[in-house]
Amino acid sequence: MTATAAPTVTTRLTGLQPTGGLHLGNLLGGIRPLVESQYAGPSIAMIADLHALTMEHDPAKVRAASLELAAVLLAAGVDPQHTALIANSQVPEHSELHYLLECVANYGEVARMIQFKEKSAEALSKPFGLRPKSPVRLSLLTYPVLMAADILLYDIAFVPVGEDQNQHLELARTIATRFNARYGTTFTVPAGVRPEKAARVMDLAEPTRKMSKSSPSAAGRIGLLDPPEVVRRTIARAVTDGVGEVRDDPENQPGISNLLGILAACTGEPPRAFTSYGELKREVTDAVEALLAPIRARYASLSADPAYLRSVLAEGKTRVRPVASETVRRTRAALGLLD
Ligand code: AMP
Ligand code: TRP
Repeated sequence: MTATAAPTVTTRLTGLQPTGGLHLGNLLGGIRPLVESQYAGPSIAMIADLHALTMEHDPAKVRAASLELAAVLLAAGVDPQHTALIANSQVPEHSELHYLLECVANYGEVARMIQFKEKSAEALSKPFGLRPKSPVRLSLLTYPVLMAADILLYDIAFVPVGEDQNQHLELARTIATRFNARYGTTFTVPAGVRPEKAARVMDLAEPTRKMSKSSPSAAGRIGLLDPPEVVRRTIARAVTDGVGEVRDDPENQPGISNLLGILAACTGEPPRAFTSYGELKREVTDAVEALLAPIRARYASLSADPAYLRSVLAEGKTRVRPVASETVRRTRAALGLLD
């Protein structure tokens, strides 16, 4: 990801969808990088609940998953004294800026997004009459423009995200740059922050695809709230290869390389030499457990107090709202709308 000119204020924002099943990839790709640098400047941790409506959804599940995500973010170290915790649906300026940015984004550039193509492929591959019950929502197409609004609303300089969000982030940069050139400087052009290791945590059962909430089997995923014995079993069963030597060679040994990447990301150190796959797996298990145990413990008490979680979200909203409304005011004026 290209770096931008050094911004005067270091602001960070990351977002996660409340679609349940948070996994190690979410922690290492999005949550931890935000938490680790939250004291470097104003930060926002965002529940992207509006984004969770872009696919067929169950309202009760989205509501429950939003509170679960709030609890996980706090359990993982988001400090609400420093970092505003918000839900994008609760700050109406996200939706307003979304529409305004749709007027500077093009159909072609959103239709070619990999995630849109993947998520819409099944439905769009069939003729109209034969399409499945859940058609492609229009919001799935415009989703990256909403993500751009989430970021541009707060003059965000850095966006910690996993590699799968590269294309969306690039679009946010394109939209900001185009808007500034056409209507006058209005937005900060954001830069992505990729973790050095584990920007793309792979599925443990199918190490050539990324670990994902939607992967068909739980065997490939380490859930952030999985009990220790499940974590241990999942890692013990992780797919390896017949080479028999522990080498970081993603092309020929994707399973082993993924385990080495996870280990390095968890410990923050380059992995030592291993003489067997079993030895490596045991060390990965210990490192993941050391990371997840405190999160699990804090989550248990936080999730028991939904009133507290709601109060943190309400406070986050109050804190960010003045910046959000000022950005919308500026954008409306630049576009020629009446004040
Ligand atoms: P999502 O689950 O799509 O809401 O993603 C939330 C955050 O986790 C984003 O920053 C993603 O880039 C990141 N993320 C999701 N899956 C992975 C993965 N397998 N490896 C690294 N980061 C990931
Ligand atoms: N699209 C991101 C994902 O699925 C979630 C997201 C929404 C986000 N808005 C954002 C991430 C703004 C970073 C910044 O992972």
